[in-house]
Amino acid sequence: MSGVSQDLYEAMSTLRAVRRLRRDPIADDVLRRILQAAAWAPSGGNVQPWRVVVVKNREKRRAIGDLYQPLWQKYAAGHHEHLSKLSGEVLAKQKRMLAAADHLGDKLAEAPVLLVYCFNPANMAITDSNMDRPSIVGGASVYLAVQNAMLACRAEGVGCVLTTLLCAEEAAIKSLLKIPEEWYTCGVMPLGYPVGKGHGPISRRPVNELAFADTFGNGVVL
Ligand SMILES: Cc1cc2nc3c(=O)[nH]c(=O)nc-3n(C[C@H](O)[C@H](O)[C@H](O)COP(=O)(O)O)c2cc1C
Repeated sequence: MSGVSQDLYEAMSTLRAVRRLRRDPIADDVLRRILQAAAWAPSGGNVQPWRVVVVKNREKRRAIGDLYQPLWQKYAAGHHEHLSKLSGEVLAKQKRMLAAADHLGDKLAEAPVLLVYCFNPANMAITDSNMDRPSIVGGASVYLAVQNAMLACRAEGVGCVLTTLLCAEEAAIKSLLKIPEEWYTCGVMPLGYPVGKGHGPISRRPVNELAFADTFGNGVVL
């Protein structure tokens, strides 16, 4: 494994949704490094068709939190119903996740920083826009930057979680943050130092369920 950066693997394998965040401020130099990491991300044609509004202002955070809470409650209702079909460790994990997500639903505004990601579709090479299925390619020119920011948060010991429910309140967010007409929103990421352990072990499908050899479904043998 010589020449392999273990730090990066360690960061990726412990980058998890951190939803219980302290109110303590995040220093500007830490934020600058996180935003620089986002700016390093590739995008179609290197256009970088995204921007991020760094929301520290308390009233604006409160307004965004007030928009998020009912959206989360409505979304979570389905999840809570689903719990009755689960048992054992899966149930315990889901309950923990929902408790943390409910907490964020109530406390989003208390995170000292909210990153509001915006995109401009006019600048994007959306190569699947005319297909008879949901278009997904455009998002890649934004969400790689989001992932870079999350990895930087991991490196800085800052908790974070990508949330996307607020797209449903895009008009209100655009008006609040004076986002120009031709720009839209695609995620709000609360940042803050973790209340508890923060980042740590994650639970994901094994690679052999996700990667195939030459033919879809063919187990990969490495
Ligand atoms: C595209 C996307 C949208 C998400 N939206 C929300 C959200 O609106 N609210 C929330 O609490 N978590 C949201 N999450 C966080 C996921 O629930 C979380 O990453 C996933 O459950 C894995 O959690 P873990 O990293 O702690 O294992 C979102 C994650 C992604 C990648």
